[in-house]
Amino acid sequence: MNEDLIRKIEAAFTARFGSLDGAKLYFAPGRVNLIGEHIDYSGGYVFPCALTIGSYCIAKPRADRKLRFYSINIPKADVIETSLDDLHPLMEKGMWTAYPKGVIWAMAQAGYACTKGLDVVYGGDVPNGSGLSSSASLEVVTAIMLRDLNGFDEAKLNNIELAKIGNVAENRYLGANTGILDQFASAMGRKDSAILLNCGTMEYEYAPISMRGKRIVVTNSNKPHSLVNSQYNTRRAQSDAARDALKKVIPGMVNLCDIDLKTFYEHADVITDKVIFKRAKHAISENQRTIDSLKALKAGDLNRFGDLINEAGESIRYDYEATCEETDLLVDAARIQPGVLCSRQTGGGWGGCTVSIVDDENIKDFMANVQRIYSARSHYHATFYVVDVGNGPEIIKQY
Ligand code: GLA
Repeated sequence: MNEDLIRKIEAAFTARFGSLDGAKLYFAPGRVNLIGEHIDYSGGYVFPCALTIGSYCIAKPRADRKLRFYSINIPKADVIETSLDDLHPLMEKGMWTAYPKGVIWAMAQAGYACTKGLDVVYGGDVPNGSGLSSSASLEVVTAIMLRDLNGFDEAKLNNIELAKIGNVAENRYLGANTGILDQFASAMGRKDSAILLNCGTMEYEYAPISMRGKRIVVTNSNKPHSLVNSQYNTRRAQSDAARDALKKVIPGMVNLCDIDLKTFYEHADVITDKVIFKRAKHAISENQRTIDSLKALKAGDLNRFGDLINEAGESIRYDYEATCEETDLLVDAARIQPGVLCSRQTGGGWGGCTVSIVDDENIKDFMANVQRIYSARSHYHATFYVVDVGNGPEIIKQY
């Protein structure tokens, strides 16, 4: 728990909305995806883990239908006042409140309409736009808060349903055609475990992450990415185009990741566009790598696990072309450091973070050396985060 941040959120709540009596404090984590990139929306496997950083909110129900939002991360926006009757999908570009409002809207669409207004203050310690799911953690913390304050049945509206609601908000309220990876990892996180999720069937299993003297190090390029404005939706459309072409000649195929590489190459002549071919090759090979990575981890073969993560890095860079100069530079700088098992860009892409696995005793030098190379050759300064794998969302306290 980030006690310092919690105190700031409490102070902001009292300053703007008065007494904390009757309010509650909630948390939902950000996530890092180890492998399985850009294939959640193609029915593929992903392998993320939840972080111990994320989004917090303090919320207190109101007697009327007014919604008052404040974020200590965006003080410039001040208190934004709106209402339960003022929810307009795709109309709130650039407004941070589109995330919580989108979740309220998506919950109502799922049959869980909120009846009480709210005063809410948010605060988070996941850097925005870093590819560590600051948005999904904001959606999930809002969803658990709404479930709790409205007394919605937790057996029916379980955390997987909350993840789906967050995803609907993102797709239909915000207009970003993202998959379920981020919200699922945030809503279903488990301490010291990664989650292997089949996004086609929603079957999942937890895999204990034991790195034997190594740690996961996330490096933020500080080059922000924006899913709505980036090429994300184009990539998704290209993957869908590959799927549609292949489906015509492969009986029973539903998602792009339903087929293996052999089947893909047997039928690849139906894809005449070279770019679409590369996108499909990434998706189908990435799916196999993700399945293999769990096997390697279970067998205790960390070298194989690292090789697969490096290969995934090449695939997202050259076949999916979802990286950028800055994250490429970080990956190249990381891989030549002593004690580095693997490194690749993680998350939505075109900026954000890389994930590396580094021997404990080399981490200090790793950070210093990568920083030196990065600041010399880019306009940005990197920040590092040695990952602790955390639990899913929680209700922290009632005031
Ligand atoms: C973003 C999206 C996810 C997923 C990743 C790439 O984080 O929100 O749904 O597609 O990019 O793996």
